[in-house]
Amino acid sequence: GQDARVRDLLRQMTLDEKIGQTHQPAGGRQKALNSKIDATALDLVRKGGVGSYLHVAGAAFLRELQRTAVEESRLKIPLLFAIDVVHGFRTLYPVPLAMAATFDPEIVRATARMAAVETAVSGLHWTFAPMVDIARDPRWGRIVEGAGEDPYLGSVMAAAQVRGFQGEGLAGKDSILACAKHFGAYGAAAGGRDYDSAELSDRTLNEVYLPPFHAAAKAGAGTMMTAFNDLNGEPTTANAALVRGVLKTQWTWPGLVVSDWNAILELINHGVAETPVQAAALALKAGVDMDMASGVYAAHLKTAIAQDPSLLPLLDQAVTRILTAKMRLGLFDDPYRFGDPEREKTIFAGPEHRAIAREAARKAVVLLKNDGGLLPIAPTARKIAVVGALATDSLSQLGSWKARGQVADVAPLLPALKAAAPAGTEIVHVAGAGPRSDDETGIPAAVEAARAADLVLLMVGEDFDHSGESRSRSDLSLPGAQGALARAVLATGKPVVVLLPSGRPLVAPEVLEKAPAVLATWFLGVEAGPALADILFGKSAPGGRLPVGFPRATGQSPTYYAHVPTGRPADPDLAKDTVRYHDVDIGPLFPFGHGLSYAAFAYSDLALDRESIAPTGAVKVSMTLTNTGALEADEVVQLYVRDPLASVARPVKELRGFVRVTLKPGEKRRVTFTLSAAQLAIWSPDGWRIEAGKVEVMVGSSSADIRLRGAFTIAASGKGRDPAA
Ligand code: IFM
Repeated sequence: GQDARVRDLLRQMTLDEKIGQTHQPAGGRQKALNSKIDATALDLVRKGGVGSYLHVAGAAFLRELQRTAVEESRLKIPLLFAIDVVHGFRTLYPVPLAMAATFDPEIVRATARMAAVETAVSGLHWTFAPMVDIARDPRWGRIVEGAGEDPYLGSVMAAAQVRGFQGEGLAGKDSILACAKHFGAYGAAAGGRDYDSAELSDRTLNEVYLPPFHAAAKAGAGTMMTAFNDLNGEPTTANAALVRGVLKTQWTWPGLVVSDWNAILELINHGVAETPVQAAALALKAGVDMDMASGVYAAHLKTAIAQDPSLLPLLDQAVTRILTAKMRLGLFDDPYRFGDPEREKTIFAGPEHRAIAREAARKAVVLLKNDGGLLPIAPTARKIAVVGALATDSLSQLGSWKARGQVADVAPLLPALKAAAPAGTEIVHVAGAGPRSDDETGIPAAVEAARAADLVLLMVGEDFDHSGESRSRSDLSLPGAQGALARAVLATGKPVVVLLPSGRPLVAPEVLEKAPAVLATWFLGVEAGPALADILFGKSAPGGRLPVGFPRATGQSPTYYAHVPTGRPADPDLAKDTVRYHDVDIGPLFPFGHGLSYAAFAYSDLALDRESIAPTGAVKVSMTLTNTGALEADEVVQLYVRDPLASVARPVKELRGFVRVTLKPGEKRRVTFTLSAAQLAIWSPDGWRIEAGKVEVMVGSSSADIRLRGAFTIAASGKGRDPAA
């Protein structure tokens, strides 16, 4: 079998060849893929000095590079080609935070599958995705790359993406390796500053930050990436207890661990290694199998092993994991796999993939408010003014991490609106102001256009480069002169619908509190324009939900729904001393799970099939959902639990189930969740445990809109397991 082939190969390898497998140099930067692969680089491949390249692309180029490895190197070991395919390769779909807002794991899986097909056709084998870091602080720019604040939602979305990228099995058609990143608590960076330290209790680490990684591991993720930052003072890239201990030993996960970019060398900056030799030894001991970009393993592992021969078996283990990944992909049997320059031409951004991208974009939009039922746009709106520079910023719809996405593939908003509007509707655009300048001189023209219109579509928010790696912000307000633009346009008294693009929750009271209708539109990918037109004109009803709450003020961050009650729960009465700020109302402006619809939904007839269960048991929770509105629409039914009395303080609510349901007007559906006692498990120093006692069950339309309540009892205490995995 595969294991014997790997062992056999390992026996034939020299120390240099082994170290070569751990070396992952960059072929180029995102903007100049393949640019660093010259004659010297090719020579290193011939010597067996490279295991993998990142940031390379192009079926014909990669074929030639692979040919060099498998025909001209001694052991003919194929290379692994990696790139960040975060929300699409050529056909870009919505950014990951927007995909989480669909609350629909099937569309998430389908988009990852489509991305894998395009990636594989281009001769690549490995994506550095999904990012499964929980992000509770919207100041962190990389919140855009993940599934938001909740470990249960994050776990479901992590598994869905792994299944999409890897397909039915790694050797299956058009499968690529997924990489769950950044293990284990990168999203907990202090103050939301990218790369900063995470300081977490063991319980929070295990209950909040690790579950999506565990879910990805259980879904068979072939690889994981360690984080840049330190956890409680230990840089993850040197954290043996976490990587070798939890991930590889406790979870018995067999995959390949790669460092983040240059992170092994950065152990020196962290102050835990004095020299690159020490850095190499620390990372290898921790369980980091492959060195991304720093070249420290390639240059210094040999010295480290000469100084400490006990590192050699660890190197063998690392090489075994790398070779196994190549073997699982089928690269030893067909090193060129699905790379196909001809298919590359026909498949990229083709109609089938665009259809998936459009469905995903429609599903990702969240209707934050709709006072007076302003949306969908009434046919009486004959003259529509589209205001805001972002309305014509197609590049931003590609979001951060574009792989091979092209701005020319983006279907822009204005032509899509013109195509979707009733015949004879006049649509004008005035930029007014944008997110990159404080220049207010365009605002009067925008006000004039608004005055002359029946309805204003005001597009204000972030552009793609306000979020993403190293894009932390200390102020979550509308950037540039857009706040002034919004105030001026709203002062006309015209009906205003706000389109709010962003890669994170924004604090924009000008529109979120003052405008009657607001859609959170994220960055929606190549079908952004048509998808938004579908929603605005009612061809499709919005049904997305917030995967992270929108705070009322930047200073409220981090704020999350699953907090513990504390001894002094927040009270609206400011005369009482309770856990709240005195200058803003309690809780987020729009909570986790929030999202309105063009229809209305009634929740009724909650039933639990039993009153008491064993710690190994489960209860069926069911309810009836009815569309009482006049349009077909989606509702996301959410199941929350609370353990009201336990040995430690438990969150006031925790998501443990959700389902997105489409119903026609008047249609009813019985929705059933299976809730196991294990989903109430509590992390303790001795592992997971289930405590006996009452469990409260809440079913609702958001974390703050609970419609039905029930309870059951766990009859006895017992041993548990990771509830989200
Ligand atoms: O995958 C990324 C990671 O998320 C951040 N640093 C660079 C890597 C490779 O591009």
